[in-house]
Amino acid sequence: MRKNELASLAAHPWIQRLEFTQSLGSTNDQATQLAAEEFLACPALVWAEEQTAGRGRGGNRWWSSRGGLMFSVILSGEGSAPANWSGYSLTAGLAICEALAAEIPAVDFAVKWPNDVYADGRKICGILIESPAQARGRLIVGIGVNVNNSFADAPEELSSTATALCDLDGQQRSLSAVLFEILSRLEHCWQRLAAEGFAALREHWQERASLTGRTVTLQVGRTQHVGRCLGIDADGSLLLHTERGREAFAAGSVVSFE
Ligand code: BTN
Repeated sequence: MRKNELASLAAHPWIQRLEFTQSLGSTNDQATQLAAEEFLACPALVWAEEQTAGRGRGGNRWWSSRGGLMFSVILSGEGSAPANWSGYSLTAGLAICEALAAEIPAVDFAVKWPNDVYADGRKICGILIESPAQARGRLIVGIGVNVNNSFADAPEELSSTATALCDLDGQQRSLSAVLFEILSRLEHCWQRLAAEGFAALREHWQERASLTGRTVTLQVGRTQHVGRCLGIDADGSLLLHTERGREAFAAGSVVSFE
């Protein structure tokens, strides 16, 4: 990473502290250690060029080779209150979806509940939100975006389901510039969320929603629920029309959709 790229990122007015590392296990783990500091100025940013133990939701691994954008934002205050997590989680996906859509307007970027971002039907960004005990009640939002890490030569099960910006238009990008843009959109979205609540962003989210109208299988604990997706409700819960009628799900994992 060139010094001037880091300097421009450090100058982002929203970020109060920046930690950059070439290689580490997981930015979320590093952020957890940082969040244990009593007087940490937030939002704080942990960014790594490479992760050796990148983590995804549900205990999955996150493919974190060089060229990918892997970082974690530590939030305190409003964003870290458990009642607000869902709104912050959903709108993180929306903010990133819009940042990526601005990069390549010709591609169809969409959000998949709760906060995955898809490009032309393949996953391009995943978000892992955590607040472990040692983080002093702060929220850690870990974000992985595939930018210059092509999936063209990845194993078939990955290349058929995931993609990177460079696979979509053949361009190599400055990671710090993409990160700067994402941070600006997160700042804007989350400030609006804090001021006006999730209702102000809900319609916006629905315009980008990929599951609406599709038949979705949702895993909640050990139970699978199948239904036609009706969008999300005012709290951000997923609405499914199942055999029992309209049901709202605050949590769960979408295992398939068609
Ligand atoms: C998912 O399963 O979709 C979530 C993936 C989250 C990956 C990011 S990369 C930066 C941060 N550090 C991690 O170990 N995971 C998150």
